[in-house]
Amino acid sequence: MDKCAIVTGSSSGLGFEISKSLLALGYKVFGGSRSGTEIEHGNFYDVELDLSSEESVEEFYETVREFTSEIHLVINNAGICEMSPLTEMSVESFEQHLAINTLGPFLLLKNLESFLIKNETHIISILSTAAHYGYPNVSAYNASKFGQLGMLESLKKEWKEHKLRFTNLFPGAIDTPLWDKMGTKFSRDKMLKVSEFMEVFNFIVRSPSVIQFPEITFLHREGYLE
Ligand SMILES: NC(=O)c1ccc[n+]([C@@H]2O[C@H](COP(=O)([O-])OP(=O)(O)OC[C@H]3O[C@@H](n4cnc5c(N)ncnc54)[C@H](OP(=O)(O)O)[C@@H]3O)[C@@H](O)[C@H]2O)c1
Repeated sequence: MDKCAIVTGSSSGLGFEISKSLLALGYKVFGGSRSGTEIEHGNFYDVELDLSSEESVEEFYETVREFTSEIHLVINNAGICEMSPLTEMSVESFEQHLAINTLGPFLLLKNLESFLIKNETHIISILSTAAHYGYPNVSAYNASKFGQLGMLESLKKEWKEHKLRFTNLFPGAIDTPLWDKMGTKFSRDKMLKVSEFMEVFNFIVRSPSVIQFPEITFLHREGYLE
């Protein structure tokens, strides 16, 4: 039987490259996003998903259930980030960060339980250095990622008896379309390339299944962007 993986945010950036890499490793991949993923592959399932909607997350899993009852790998990746001084940020934007970056992973994992495989399922979360380091002008993003980390740390203990693997990644800035919408002053030369991120990701995914990586922080040698 093929191993099965879920990738949230497969339509762009890291999720898109992760999906292609997992397909090359032989996984059946269920990619979730709002806009759809342009990957043509016999083992890729492009599934509509809006993580900010409980109904959409449930429908996503109903589709996955048509093909498998077991998930080996979950890539909790989708996320948004907007830059704005706190005093200029709207309540709506702050709430949207929490809805997608914090509540979204909560809904993803809440609905995952019946697909878990004891001693097997690996949950890799693409957090950010912003999950434990405060940057200026991203208060909503910081809050949503700190919150997501707290949720994951609690769940890790609740699901201890399943003997799963939880890997939390804390990358620094990576040159993806995420930055296109931000129009910032930051030089892309001081960001990791997606291919460099993938070196770390593939190392983790290919490692023997007895190894877990509770926390990995990695960033460009130029240091934190701020
Ligand atoms: N790029 C960086 O510098 C960096 C650094 C550290 C961590 N990260 C984290 O890495 C993850 C991926 O970021 P990226 O750089 O690859 O960004 P990206 O290119 O903007 O991709 C974001 C992905 O998230 C999906 N998404 C957004 N809102 C969604 C929703 N409501 N429901 C389902 N999917 C949704 C998008 O798909 P649709 O719009 O089609 O729904 C898209 O596929 C994020 O969690 C981000 O915080 C990024």
